[in-house]
Amino acid sequence: MDIWKDYLTENKDRFLNELLDLLRMPSVSADPKFKKDVLATADFVKEKLIAAGADNVEICQTAGYPIVYGEKIINSDLPTVLVYGHYDVQPADPYELWDSPPFEPVIKDGKIYARGACDDKGQFYMHIKAFEIMMQNGGVPCNVKFMIEGEEEVGSDNLEPFVRGNVDKLACDVVLISDTSMIANETPSITTGLRGLSYVEVEVTGPNRDLHSGVYGGAVANPINILSKMIADMHDETGKITIPGFYDDVAILSDAERAEMAKAPFDLEAYKKDLEIDDVQGEEGFSSMERTSIRPTLDVNGMWGGYIGEGAKTVLPSKAYAKISMRLVPNQSSEKITELFQKHFESIAPKSVKIKVTPHHGGEPAVTPTDSLAYKAAANAYETTFGKRPIPTKDGGSIPIVALFGEVLNVDTILMGFGLDSDAIHSPNEHYGVFNYFKGIETIPYFYQYYTEGKK
Ligand code: BES
Ligand code: MN
Ligand code: MN
Repeated sequence: MDIWKDYLTENKDRFLNELLDLLRMPSVSADPKFKKDVLATADFVKEKLIAAGADNVEICQTAGYPIVYGEKIINSDLPTVLVYGHYDVQPADPYELWDSPPFEPVIKDGKIYARGACDDKGQFYMHIKAFEIMMQNGGVPCNVKFMIEGEEEVGSDNLEPFVRGNVDKLACDVVLISDTSMIANETPSITTGLRGLSYVEVEVTGPNRDLHSGVYGGAVANPINILSKMIADMHDETGKITIPGFYDDVAILSDAERAEMAKAPFDLEAYKKDLEIDDVQGEEGFSSMERTSIRPTLDVNGMWGGYIGEGAKTVLPSKAYAKISMRLVPNQSSEKITELFQKHFESIAPKSVKIKVTPHHGGEPAVTPTDSLAYKAAANAYETTFGKRPIPTKDGGSIPIVALFGEVLNVDTILMGFGLDSDAIHSPNEHYGVFNYFKGIETIPYFYQYYTEGKK
């Protein structure tokens, strides 16, 4: 609609500046040092929702960081869209690898550089601006609810009780999220699958204290040596995970489905070049795209122990640690996989060490059907603004709350992500394209329009 487009054109500078203000707020949920900033960010989101025209805007307290809620209910006969996003961001460490400070956004070559630029501030803020555009130009076509949380990057522990305890307040026909990526700016896509997650921390204890590695080395188990071997043994030579039962529930795609997936463009050479690697690796018999979408994985996220300071210290450490994540696919259960991991890990440990496994947050995989009215509305919206039909894709990341929305609110989630895999989310120099920000703002109102029309 031209009036939307005109309003966007007239307000572009302000829309961009508001996002830059939001990006200046270091809302790192993982680090208590930023508590004040996280809380201030919730207030910022509240004020912007009010300014955009939302009603009943409130900061909902939880046992952790608050959830910002707001709504525009125009007619109970019309459908309701629930927009979810997160205002918290990942820690920016290591700071020294950033070309510009992570909380001082700069625009370079058409990209906004800052922690949270893409994940998820730039993306959820598009929804507030799209809402403003509709409100200022005749109003929203259907009911809208916003739920923007502050603990996504630390596992959304307090969101589940909030959702379960507020089923009426959050009642809706569909959930809308922009927190994923698309294939390329010239190749729009809609995410129809997210992986689940099991996350564990392991501790391996050898002797009761750090020892002289000359006096005891060779005769007493070194927990770091042992842990390294245990981790190495968790994949076989074909790239399969060796935990018994790990693949039992994995949904197997038909050849036709895999052929359909393979149609999405993927440039292996560009992929390697971007990461400066000479080769990729992974489970035999699957493409890189399949390895990061329809297949489960096990990765060490961090490993430590012993002496890691300057110079050399000859020590046989008492303890070794690792943080391990497993990405899950339909129909794996995060609880079951965590149990299988624990059992296996304990069973492969030699008697010379003691093992402790501590489960962290988990989440279930999610899929969005492509034959629903909501999906079609989203696809039509992309087609309107990109001039191309979006390709359905499955993403490798996780948004555990999506499965919960399905279970508790009994609705599908539409993942209208406008980021790119190359946006360096969770990494130094995270960025988000100015193009992507405005394209998202332009596309979202069409979703509302087509969805509401379709429902009539
Ligand atoms: N937005 C990401 C998830 C994502 C990114 C999905 C790219 C698809 C494509 C989200 O903020 C995130 O980082 N999730 C975590 C899980 C969470 C439990 C900490 C993840 O995937 O590691
Ligand atoms: Mn995110
Ligand atoms: Mn994230």
